[in-house]
Amino acid sequence: MCGIVGYVGDKHKAQDVLLKGLKMLEYRGYDSCGVAMIADDEVFLERVEGRVSALEKKISGKKFNNILNGIAHTRWATHGLPSEANAHPHTDCDGDIVVVHNGIIENYIELKEGLKGHTFKSETDTEVIVHLIEENVKKLMKKDMGKRSEMLEPLFFEAFLNTLRKLKGSFAIAVIWKKAPGMILAARRFSPLVIGKGEGENFLASDVAGFIEWTKNVYFVDDNEVVFLDKNNVAFFNLDGKKINKELKTVNWDIKMAEKGGYKHFMLKEIFEQEMGFENTLMGRVLPVGKYILGNEMNLKEDDIKKFSMINFVACGTAYHAAYIGRYLFERMGMRADVDLASEFSSRSLVVDKNSLVVAISQSGETADTIDALRIAKKNGNKILAITNTLGSTITREADYVMYTHCGPEIAVASTKAFTSQLAALYVLALSFSYIRGNLLITKAREFAEELLSLAKLIKESLEINDYVEELADKFSAQDDYLFIGRGINYPVALEGALKLKEISYLHAEGYAAGEMKHGPIAIITNGMPVIVIATSSSDIDLVRGNIEETRARGGVVVAVVDKNSKQKIRADYYLEVPYASECFMPVLNIIPLQLFAYWTAVRRGTDIDKPRNLAKSVTVK
Ligand code: G6P
Repeated sequence: MCGIVGYVGDKHKAQDVLLKGLKMLEYRGYDSCGVAMIADDEVFLERVEGRVSALEKKISGKKFNNILNGIAHTRWATHGLPSEANAHPHTDCDGDIVVVHNGIIENYIELKEGLKGHTFKSETDTEVIVHLIEENVKKLMKKDMGKRSEMLEPLFFEAFLNTLRKLKGSFAIAVIWKKAPGMILAARRFSPLVIGKGEGENFLASDVAGFIEWTKNVYFVDDNEVVFLDKNNVAFFNLDGKKINKELKTVNWDIKMAEKGGYKHFMLKEIFEQEMGFENTLMGRVLPVGKYILGNEMNLKEDDIKKFSMINFVACGTAYHAAYIGRYLFERMGMRADVDLASEFSSRSLVVDKNSLVVAISQSGETADTIDALRIAKKNGNKILAITNTLGSTITREADYVMYTHCGPEIAVASTKAFTSQLAALYVLALSFSYIRGNLLITKAREFAEELLSLAKLIKESLEINDYVEELADKFSAQDDYLFIGRGINYPVALEGALKLKEISYLHAEGYAAGEMKHGPIAIITNGMPVIVIATSSSDIDLVRGNIEETRARGGVVVAVVDKNSKQKIRADYYLEVPYASECFMPVLNIIPLQLFAYWTAVRRGTDIDKPRNLAKSVTVK
């Protein structure tokens, strides 16, 4: 996810503002960081692998006079392992132009190929931006034949605009140039960027937390907007260089709130980041024309994909529920698949077919049980594919192939955005595998890809139910027992809904396959007991309707997750309506009201939501 900060002015020591800003943004990423400042006509650049405190140590004691501007970055690696060389800021060939970036440049390979004669020093997608600016600056200088030598700022601005027009993907960028000191240029597309307006100084950051200590006057930058900052001015432009007026707003957040983007808890913030996580995970992997670049990314050859006999998923906790959905998905798309709790895998590994691809899913990439299962499978002769959110984690070093989710660091112990971004990765895998193996015709593959690409928007729509879920959670606040049921691909959603409630509200919640109700759980239904039923459109909806009636007949209060079509078919006490999508995509939308329900129930009960008792974010013991 990464955090960026920028400062222009001389009221404060730039290094203090930048380091403080980075510390506040460390929740966005913390595997490496760096700072660049222009002082006395020189670029000062320092980077470290590790946290901001290490960077602070490295530059402590250094004296900087006449600093005019500076930019800084804290990284959550997406392209290139966490290392000093891959840490931002990145520079052009001469070390004069300096950039920080949050986001993913989708077409960086293509752009890099066009930058002949440039020396690249990192494995990042970001570095291409600064070399492109360099290239554009040189072209404009040549065209100008030195006419603008006195006025390099407009030239820098034009070179920046020309660069932005070439970039595909997501970005919040800040750039400085030794030859145009005292200014910063910045731009945004799909990655957050805010500007802090001061008196005789100005700031920029990935969110308000980056400068809240110095100013509460803020401009919120929108997509495809470009910003010019010097110590006295802030100006906004579109990509054609046309000036835009923006409203200055005042935020009344304290530092703690600002760090959480104005949300009370990281969990709620992360629930609301799911559109971003889903979209980022698809980015550059699914092209609507039915062309998939998955193979290139993972070095997984089409021939290998054709040879795998089946898929065996292994994972723990929430990642296990994503894997369970993956099993349904692959089976529906014509490939055999099985799923195991990683901690149970050792009991049955010998029956796993050697030619099966073992897919280990883990947000942290460090879960001991998952790593153990991976090692057992390796010993058994299986190839391993890891789906993880964490570059350089243990799982990535031991797997044969790695597919990253790109939802940024997840701080709250209860996993939310990692789950939906794991689903995004699974949709891409299922799509490419079934297409390559000939189970899916090109026309069907295109339809699937198009619908997949439209899902992020539907996630955003699903989140609109937040206020209603808060009210609903209030109604049930005295209840101690909850049942969650679903069928087919929505059965793991019921499991995940129950897990979320258990984890953060400490209530008794059970997830069950709806068809199993009659074999036990129905006995616990008493008057007023909340039963949450996943009842969105599916081939099983009539059976689900039957389960709802059985529940109502025993006094259970039915809360049904529905879409506009299924709503008419069932009788519930409360409806949680989500947008309609094809059945296989519904888990992504259905889980959202359940995450919110768990969150608001926990708020009512006053638990420690981001750090629930007895649990840990990453469980590194067996
Ligand atoms: C812990 C966390 C869960 C997480 C599980 C698996 O139990 O509290 O939120 O789902 O570990 O973690 P992983 O990092 O492997 O996805």
